[in-house]
Amino acid sequence: MIERLLKLREQAKQNGEPILRDKSFELLIKTVKEKKPQSILEIGVNLGLSSIAMLKAEPTAKLSGIEIDEKRVELIKNNYRDFGVDDRANIFLGDASEILPLLTGKYDFIFLDGPKGHYYEYLPHLLSSLNVGGTLFADNVLFRGYVDGRVKTPHRFNTTKHSMENFLREITTSPNLKTTVYDIEDGVSITEKLK
Ligand SMILES: C[S@@+](CC[C@H](N)C(=O)[O-])C[C@H]1O[C@@H](n2cnc3c(N)ncnc32)[C@H](O)[C@@H]1O
Repeated sequence: MIERLLKLREQAKQNGEPILRDKSFELLIKTVKEKKPQSILEIGVNLGLSSIAMLKAEPTAKLSGIEIDEKRVELIKNNYRDFGVDDRANIFLGDASEILPLLTGKYDFIFLDGPKGHYYEYLPHLLSSLNVGGTLFADNVLFRGYVDGRVKTPHRFNTTKHSMENFLREITTSPNLKTTVYDIEDGVSITEKLK
């Protein structure tokens, strides 16, 4: 992995940016290297550091990202240019709830890292945008230990927790999907679309 990218990740962490945690990041890049997706969708892009790492891991892949924060979009585009992946990456500015139903493209790999209370709502759109044989990689699926009951859920997070439980139930029980849940950091799930 490029030293400069890892340095930017460290800086972003120190600045309190909500970037993907280290072990989950390693698993993301390992999975991309194994699966070799040619079309990637990322929901919740932040600074674009994971996008860049995925595009460097699979040098012929193209990526579309969805990011709601207008201020970040210029930073993301600058980072893409800086790392020479701007010809393979584009960003949709807006709310994933509104953009996902409008997507017409199909993707080999979807990295879901947007608002945690909306994963279940997004799922039908994600699955219809995913090619058969494609992979859905989702971060935060154990959501601070609330989802498996290790940590008592504060009242204000009940709705998010329930949404995440519904998401997890669906991806682990649907006969059309094969899912592994990794108990690392905030929890990662990797789902293959079987048919
Ligand atoms: C955890 S960060 C993403 C980190 C990034 N994937 C990475 O690996 O570095 C979540 C991002 O989702 C964005 N976001 C939050 N709500 C969103 C929404 N409704 N639609 C699209 N993006 C959203 C936030 O602005 C933030 O940049």
